[in-house]
Amino acid sequence: MVEQRAQVLRGEGLTKQFRSGDLVVDALRGVDITVNQGEVVAIIGPSGSGKSTLMGILGGLDTPTQGSLQVAGVEITEMGENRLADIRNGYIGFVFQQFNLMPTLTAAENVALPIQFSRKKKFAPKRRAVDLLSSFGLQDRLNNRPSQLSGGEQQRVAIARALANDPPLLLCDEPTGALDTENGDRVMDALFQAQRELKTAVVIVTHDPRVAERANRTLAMTDGRFAPAGN
Ligand SMILES: Nc1ncnc2c1ncn2[C@@H]1O[C@H](COP(=O)(O)OP(=O)(O)OP(=O)(O)O)[C@@H](O)[C@H]1O
Ligand SMILES: [Mg+2]
Repeated sequence: MVEQRAQVLRGEGLTKQFRSGDLVVDALRGVDITVNQGEVVAIIGPSGSGKSTLMGILGGLDTPTQGSLQVAGVEITEMGENRLADIRNGYIGFVFQQFNLMPTLTAAENVALPIQFSRKKKFAPKRRAVDLLSSFGLQDRLNNRPSQLSGGEQQRVAIARALANDPPLLLCDEPTGALDTENGDRVMDALFQAQRELKTAVVIVTHDPRVAERANRTLAMTDGRFAPAGN
């Protein structure tokens, strides 16, 4: 039986050109992508093929040169900065290769921060931070600063932070890229745990074939496009 699921994200005909002087780089050459509620999609492809460019656009951090992008059925390419900021805060969580935690804040304070910044507070910030960090096995690290944590622990804090406002979508750009195999596996376990327990849709850019193996779908990007069979 085919299950009908809501679309959390839909991009059509996305292109991106970077210009510097006379030089034009076609980083994306017409990408169509749909992400459904609660699925894990892996994006693979060689260096420079456009994966990070696409993630930046999907997350509303960057704008496409052409194409349309709908998040929760709402077109965001025309959206003003205030509404876009709300979408980024409440609807989309980001996880990058470098964990980007605030160095002066504890793990729990880092996780609570996006809730404090949100206009519609769904959760009590401290309680939510403790719950999420505990669910990722970090209950003994709540009051440690990032410099006191291993890379794998920092990335799990970053995932907890990305999930703080319970977004339907997590965008992860090489989340295990800076980690050894064991820490990488624990980070991947945390992402699949989010899919299972919170029904979060997760898009993961990765060079690791083992990550792609665990995903529900894999899209292969070459030279700014997905391979035809990929979508
Ligand atoms: N801000 C920018 N200005 C100019 N060119 C850019 C910019 N960002 C990316 N590019 C170019 O766009 C292309 C796609 O880059 P992108 O970072 O999306 O690749 P990637 O698939 O994420 O690679 P990697 O696997 O190395 O992270 C590359 O040719 C890159 O040099
Ligand atoms: Mg990249």
